[in-house]
Amino acid sequence: MEIIRTSNYMELSLKAAQMVIKVVNDNPKAVLGLATGGTPKGTYEKLIKDHKENHTDYSNIQTVNLDEYLGIDPDDANSYRTFMKQHLFNEINIQEKNTHIPNGQVDNYENECQRYDHLIQDIGGIDIQLLGIGQNGHIGFNEPGTPFSETTHIVNLTHDTRKANARFFKDIKDVPSQAITLGIKNILESRLILLLASGENKAKAMARLLNGRDISESFPASALHLHEHVVVIADEAALSLVDKQKRSAY
Ligand code: GLP
Repeated sequence: MEIIRTSNYMELSLKAAQMVIKVVNDNPKAVLGLATGGTPKGTYEKLIKDHKENHTDYSNIQTVNLDEYLGIDPDDANSYRTFMKQHLFNEINIQEKNTHIPNGQVDNYENECQRYDHLIQDIGGIDIQLLGIGQNGHIGFNEPGTPFSETTHIVNLTHDTRKANARFFKDIKDVPSQAITLGIKNILESRLILLLASGENKAKAMARLLNGRDISESFPASALHLHEHVVVIADEAALSLVDKQKRSAY
């Protein structure tokens, strides 16, 4: 695990975008694993800026998103598909058919999970997976207790996760109680993983992740210690509870 410490969110976003751009330039047919939430927004802004200025080409890039709420139409204002369109896809030259997000409104959720797993295999696997981290250590929507062996599956969201995501909705009661998410196994199969963390509210989770190497299903992000190529980009606030010597220990 490599840790890149930045002084603020802007710098974090720039560093993350530079890593994504390198993957895209090295392989114009790369598969990007993308995340939603507040954390990657800045990265997407930097990707858009770079695309406008330097014409980085996404015409043959494929994307695979981590998760989607259940019971939400893909065109709903709060769907993760809408989020991705607004914050990235509409602003770069990616083909819509190459942007993959689980469908949260299907008759058979089990089939949808299997379809998504097969799709990832069919397009050659994920080259770079962007991740945020929940305050309870969730990655994607893999809540504490999720077996590391899980592939794409349906989850019941914890009250805390729904509360944390309520800021995107009118009211917490509008936040769906279930989601479909890539499993930890899928995430660990990515060739490179980029974990982003910004702000004081992530400090406890980052301390738990980095101060020890306690690998446990009760803290999903700890699975990342099992992967050989993880880069953590975090700002000072997110690393404020990480022991000084640990910040460069990986
Ligand atoms: C959501 C998403 C995760 C994300 C997490 C943190 O629950 N499903 O993929 O990493 O929240 O979000 P934020 O970046 O807004 O703190």
